[in-house]
Amino acid sequence: MSTTVLGFFDGMAAARRLGAVLNVSVHEVKTHRFPDKECLIRVPASARTVILYRSLDDPDRKIIELLLAASAARDQGAERVILVAPYLAYMRQDRAFHAGEAVSQKVIGGLIAGHFDGLVTVDPHLHRISALNEVVTGIPTISLSAAPVLATLVDARDSPVVVGPDSESRQWTETIAAPLGLETLVASKQRLGDRQVSLAIPHVDQVKGRRAILVDDMISSGRTLVEAAGVLYGAGATSVEALVTHCLASADDLAVLEANGIAPIASSDSVDGPTSKAQLAPLICRALQENGFT
Ligand code: R5P
Repeated sequence: MSTTVLGFFDGMAAARRLGAVLNVSVHEVKTHRFPDKECLIRVPASARTVILYRSLDDPDRKIIELLLAASAARDQGAERVILVAPYLAYMRQDRAFHAGEAVSQKVIGGLIAGHFDGLVTVDPHLHRISALNEVVTGIPTISLSAAPVLATLVDARDSPVVVGPDSESRQWTETIAAPLGLETLVASKQRLGDRQVSLAIPHVDQVKGRRAILVDDMISSGRTLVEAAGVLYGAGATSVEALVTHCLASADDLAVLEANGIAPIASSDSVDGPTSKAQLAPLICRALQENGFT
């Protein structure tokens, strides 16, 4: 057995989808929580190449389990341990915005580089740096875009307007809109707090009497999309849909999005949940194979 995929209890369905397209075996890493909250990790017998599959939503718990699993896989004989983390956490804090703040991106990037032989992720949130290997240094890294997969979910009838809620979202709006010949609008956004943003959409009058499709890399609290939807409905949009790579929103936050008229909401399966409609496994499989990671 030269390659195997190892998943965790909270992501086995997605790990199995990847194993199926790669045509390799898939096993579960067993985790146990002690009363003091430490964890015990047990991996099954290793292959030469182990692909550890885990999205890093809820990252504080998952990262420690991952590092322990990588170590256990090597102890079991793995010669190469590749991390497939469709959602890569802690990428947003890419500098100390105030004195004394940790640059989380650098710390987590360093941990990954120190414990894995390769990294595959999807739409990492890189703002002020352009390449993932500036954060995760010294190992091969692959940063995939979910845009082509998300584009397959777009209903382009009646020429909806594709709207990015901030300047960074331009990359996804354009990749999705261009092949379908759709118009795009991109908002300028100011974040005022964890759950407070203000946002303006230049030329928003173009949505009057039309469907709007909000496209972004992630939904976290959902406030960005709620604010954007308010502006779009205020300008006469007939409906507001949303398409994102990573949906990290809680059930309560999803209910708020829906109450604000944002429907349907669709995402990739980077974080499996009620919105995940587009499977990333074929994209990740191709990247692993083309880069000699299997
Ligand atoms: C920010 O730059 C991102 O692209 C998302 O717009 C943001 O993370 C969404 O966060 P929230 O859902 O909390 O507004």
